[in-house]
Amino acid sequence: MEGQGTQQTGKKVIFSGIQPSGTLTLGNYLGAIRNWKQLEDEYQCIYSVVDLHAITVRQEPAQLRRRCTELMAIYLAAGLNPEKTLIYCQSHVPAHAELAWILGCYTYLGELQRMTQYKDKAQKHAANLNAGLLTYPVLMAADILLYQADLVPIGADQKQHLELTRDIAIRFNGAYGDTFVVPDGYFPKVGARIRSLQEPARKMSKSDPEDTYIALLDTPEAIRRKFKRAVTDSEASVRFDPEGKPGVSNLMSILGAITGDSMEKIEADFAGQGYGAFKTAVADAVVAELEPIQNEHRRLMADKAYIETIMRASAERASAIAARTMRKVRRKVGLAPFSL
Ligand code: TYM
Repeated sequence: MEGQGTQQTGKKVIFSGIQPSGTLTLGNYLGAIRNWKQLEDEYQCIYSVVDLHAITVRQEPAQLRRRCTELMAIYLAAGLNPEKTLIYCQSHVPAHAELAWILGCYTYLGELQRMTQYKDKAQKHAANLNAGLLTYPVLMAADILLYQADLVPIGADQKQHLELTRDIAIRFNGAYGDTFVVPDGYFPKVGARIRSLQEPARKMSKSDPEDTYIALLDTPEAIRRKFKRAVTDSEASVRFDPEGKPGVSNLMSILGAITGDSMEKIEADFAGQGYGAFKTAVADAVVAELEPIQNEHRRLMADKAYIETIMRASAERASAIAARTMRKVRRKVGLAPFSL
């Protein structure tokens, strides 16, 4: 189904979310958040702190609550404008869970068992292999389809989940007639898969040891130290070759994602220089990018009432959009009508 925009704005819709399950990494920032801001004028953007997703692994309740507020503050500190963009907490809009249940009845077990992230998590959390880990992508599909999103800005690791979302939407539309917009992914040209600083075969992830990732709120000293220790190779030449030189290529991608420079330009800029100067330049660029966000984050966290006001107002507006989709879905599926 073609996107029709929200009733309020007539603009095409963007939806994305991040789990409040730990420190945010430079991967989350370059793969997702950094892109979000750029889409704010052209689209009706809806960005959620997806706390229902986070409880698929055990969370300490007080910490989860605090991380929701912290992540909201990061969204704002990264420059999102709450007057244009909806920024809210997923669990404040119960329709996410409601639609997830319904869509779960239109998703095959085999599809969920094939998801690579499920397979990874099943290994990692063998002692708590709960049903939520398996049905996680259905909740993600519900998030996206609830708002009739046209575009979903995410990193490459979420591509498979987005494809499943599309399959579910197409299947549902096929059975009941046009109901959901079939969304497209929106991936950054550079930065869609930022890799571990120590094991560049792996993606940068907050669940790995600390020296493998840059946290969004790392101090400048920590950022510089981690880049200094980042794995490279013995060739001592700054050349983009993701297969042969994964460590250096990852650092080049980080620099390029921030400066907008092409890999050729970065190669030319650092021709004849060793890795020391190159790593310093990457660290400088990252520090310069993150410092203003960190300062703004600190300022916002001192004003939690403001964050809560935004969270509440956005959740109300999001609920109104979600309710329209839910009315349609309930009718199509044949759930008994009700009026309160
Ligand atoms: P999450 O919380 O793991 O990650 C949030 C976003 O960061 C991106 N990302 C990366 N991008 C580049 N390089 C990396 N190393 C890297 N690590 C993470 C992710 O691709 C993602 O865009 N299931 C989702 C959250 C979610 C969602 C949604 C996203 C729930 N519902 C609906 C979009 C739409 C997740 O766990 O992302």
